[in-house]
Amino acid sequence: MKSFDKIKLTQFSHGAGWACKIGPKDLAQVLSKLKIENSENVVVGFAENDDAAVVRISNDKLLVQTVDFFTPVVDDPYTFGQIAAANALSDIYAMGAIPTFALNIFGFPIKDLPKEVAAQILKGGSDKAREAGIPILGGHSIDDKEPKYGLVVNGEINEHMLIRNSGANAGDTLILTKPIGTGIISTAIKKRAVQKDVEKAAIDSMKTLNKDAASLMQKFKVRAATDVTGFGLIGHLIEMCKASDVSAELDFNSIPFFAGTQKLADDEFIPSGSKRNHDHVSNYCYYSKQISINQQMMLSDSQTSGGLLISIAPDQAEDYVSAFNAKSRIKAHIIGKMTKPSPKLVKII
Ligand code: CO
Ligand code: CO
Repeated sequence: MKSFDKIKLTQFSHGAGWACKIGPKDLAQVLSKLKIENSENVVVGFAENDDAAVVRISNDKLLVQTVDFFTPVVDDPYTFGQIAAANALSDIYAMGAIPTFALNIFGFPIKDLPKEVAAQILKGGSDKAREAGIPILGGHSIDDKEPKYGLVVNGEINEHMLIRNSGANAGDTLILTKPIGTGIISTAIKKRAVQKDVEKAAIDSMKTLNKDAASLMQKFKVRAATDVTGFGLIGHLIEMCKASDVSAELDFNSIPFFAGTQKLADDEFIPSGSKRNHDHVSNYCYYSKQISINQQMMLSDSQTSGGLLISIAPDQAEDYVSAFNAKSRIKAHIIGKMTKPSPKLVKII
């Protein structure tokens, strides 16, 4: 039996690149073959490309549901559990909703790894759920070659408070509530090529719930929101632009990246998922000349448990950012604005 201390969870992730996520292009091809059926109670479904599914339960009351799971992005099992749970909860927060309960989804090589490791992953998840104020009421587990963990999360909201990704207006200000770079840093973590302080900052951010960012949205004129995850900042921004029929302009120098991200990108720790994202969005993007190819990759870096991307009335943006930053260790930034629709959906200057 291996000693618990020496286990590197990420060595059990055999997937190519970041958490073996299926890229946006492949996913679109697969989904195009599905016949989508909606019922009259569906408020947000497949077609909307939003963060979570939303169904009406009574007049103004909506049920919000999402599911998310992945392979380890860090070595420590307890931390992996916390990150996976924070990431799964994030889609509920991105809709402005309040989580109510969750279920575990768990794959684990039960004959190859100590049971204590499994217990630590689940403990990380349940502690994070407790922090979010919800119980985990059950779940499903399978014996699997590599560990996988995540949650189905249920939430609720009144219809007039629902925040979709489709409500953005030209002229809105864009706010991002966490730095970018966890895909690149996780890749470097797997290759043991990352400085401790860089690793710590990224892990700390991935563990952090988007709860405060979400509840604060209800106090301001937020018109649209999403969370930045697997498709990267630009990928998720493009979904918001398409849904809202606007374009966006980002100021590269205003975008927060974790310290060390640029260096790791230049040292070629860019995960294949981020390269795929970059490729997928290239037709929709205009990059000004001074933005290097690696900086373009950083903008498409696949995020785990990233921050909220918020489109807000321009006269409210500074107030949101100061209110959020007064409470949060991780700081929100204004990163750009929405503009009138144009063929290039995102312009980066
Ligand atoms: Co999302
Ligand atoms: Co998600």
